[in-house]
Amino acid sequence: MDNTVFEVLRTYDYENLILCQEKSLGLQAIIAIHDTTLGPAAGGVRMYPYDSEQSAINDVLRLARGMTYKGAASGTNLGGGKCVVIGDPKHDKSEAFFRALGRFIERLGGLYIAGEDVGTTAQDMEIIGLETSHVFSLPAEEEVAHFTAFGVVQATRACLQHIYGSADLQGRTVAVQGVGAVGSDVVRRLVEAGATVTVADTDQDKVDHITKTYPVTSAHPDEIHSRPVDVYCPCALGAMLNERTLPELRCKIVCGAANNQLANEGCGDRIAQHGILYAPDYIVNAGGLIAYADGRHPTGFSRQRAMAAVARIYDMTEQVLALAKEQDIPTFRAADRLAEQRIASVRQAKTLATGFVGST
Ligand code: NAI
Repeated sequence: MDNTVFEVLRTYDYENLILCQEKSLGLQAIIAIHDTTLGPAAGGVRMYPYDSEQSAINDVLRLARGMTYKGAASGTNLGGGKCVVIGDPKHDKSEAFFRALGRFIERLGGLYIAGEDVGTTAQDMEIIGLETSHVFSLPAEEEVAHFTAFGVVQATRACLQHIYGSADLQGRTVAVQGVGAVGSDVVRRLVEAGATVTVADTDQDKVDHITKTYPVTSAHPDEIHSRPVDVYCPCALGAMLNERTLPELRCKIVCGAANNQLANEGCGDRIAQHGILYAPDYIVNAGGLIAYADGRHPTGFSRQRAMAAVARIYDMTEQVLALAKEQDIPTFRAADRLAEQRIASVRQAKTLATGFVGST
């Protein structure tokens, strides 16, 4: 980033960038608030040994903005934010460390709500929760990945309907890349719905476990994306839709949980030219966020209500695909457009109600 920080904040219309430090603990964290038009800024706490302050700032800004789009497109009343902690999650964690971070979050008075992310766990969130109520949590018996997985299957059904005129998974072929928390539950749901599933994971123990548990076959992790299937379902890492993999895809649909699947916007523009329908990642994987949002309901978490809200990922996907078709634009741009429209209309309503738009 060659521009000054303020130039970047202005370009993408960020609200706040907050630096937090606690010398005695070596805590250095950065919280970015992108947009709170729809509600408090939601976003995970990422802990990573960034090689420079600038790379940490770049990351927190990029991720916070992404959360604004995800919150808006998923129909939640949440804005976009993120927190990055500069440190090694293997060596730098302690109770005091996360309690100190919790106190910083508390001082923001609910502007930012923290959640798990790369390098942090539900246990870390519990410690943060000792100092602030502004942290996402679900009842102990609930697994956030299960809500995410349900949303992935709902989005997959919407894509099948769009391509084949039927949302039925019976007899459809799906290649699932990564069978961790989300991927393994996606596999369970697909198998129960009658799909023929192939899996791959770099962790052989996980592959062994899933192939013993369900009637699925496995493929090498390097070639799972090139299987001739109806649906390629990425549930591992990001950027797997890149210059190298795009020409190798032999699926009709890409629909999976992984974040940031497109290596760059050019890949998003080109994937349709390969005759492939790409379901935008942040619509597909919003189930976890939707469940967390339900946990903040005044009457507490309701599994039934959360599942009903996650089920609507089917309609959201349908809406995005319809807009992309109607305006002849790539699906990822259609998703962005819907999110931007929702934020703009709520901002407009606030202006009308108060005659004043706060924060920006
Ligand atoms: P996880 O860490 O439980 O599972 C990821 C799996 O991918 C692991 O089993 C890992 O061994 C495997 N993997 C890594 N590299 C691979 C490769 N090159 N080929 C095949 N397998 C590989 O993570 P989780 O929670 O299941 O999340 C999966 C993806 O979904 C991530 O990108 C995550 O950011 C995203 N996501 C997860 C949500 C959740 O509720 N857990 C919510 C929204 C997005």
